Amino acid sequence: AKILVLHGPNLNLLGAREPQIYGRETLADINQRLAEHALSAGHELQWFQSNAEHELIGRIHQARDDQTALILCNAGAFTHTSIALRDAFAAVAIPFIEVHLSNVYARESFRHHSYLSDLAIGVICGFGSDSYGLALDAAIRRLQVPAS
Ligand code: DQA
Repeated sequence: AKILVLHGPNLNLLGAREPQIYGRETLADINQRLAEHALSAGHELQWFQSNAEHELIGRIHQARDDQTALILCNAGAFTHTSIALRDAFAAVAIPFIEVHLSNVYARESFRHHSYLSDLAIGVICGFGSDSYGLALDAAIRRLQVPAS
């Protein structure tokens, strides 16, 4: 099946951006690892990063037309601000997993609220770049077992 990984604002700077919080791995490293992992489980992984809210929304809309089965989404700071992104997920009704590298609950209180979590299948945060791999494992299991 097709799995889409969406990366929101500032995640293009991974590896260089606040490495004590976000680690040293680059987005290219993470995407490469995820693509290989997905392929070995018989799935096709696409990824998209943007700093612009409307581009992320556009990519979510496109996912409806290109038969994307599941989305992994690290919306970055838009997680905490964007009703528009939330509405896009609600509109396309594609199941998604919310991902964060950092443990947002151990950080500033403005990161404790997410506009996405209650729509998501689940949320994985706090495991650094492993958060994505864990989310992909969960996605693969989910795609094997038809939803009841
Ligand atoms: C983040 C957490 C957000 O609060 C922050 O704005 C980010 C990254 C994470 O992956 O830990 O940009 O989504």
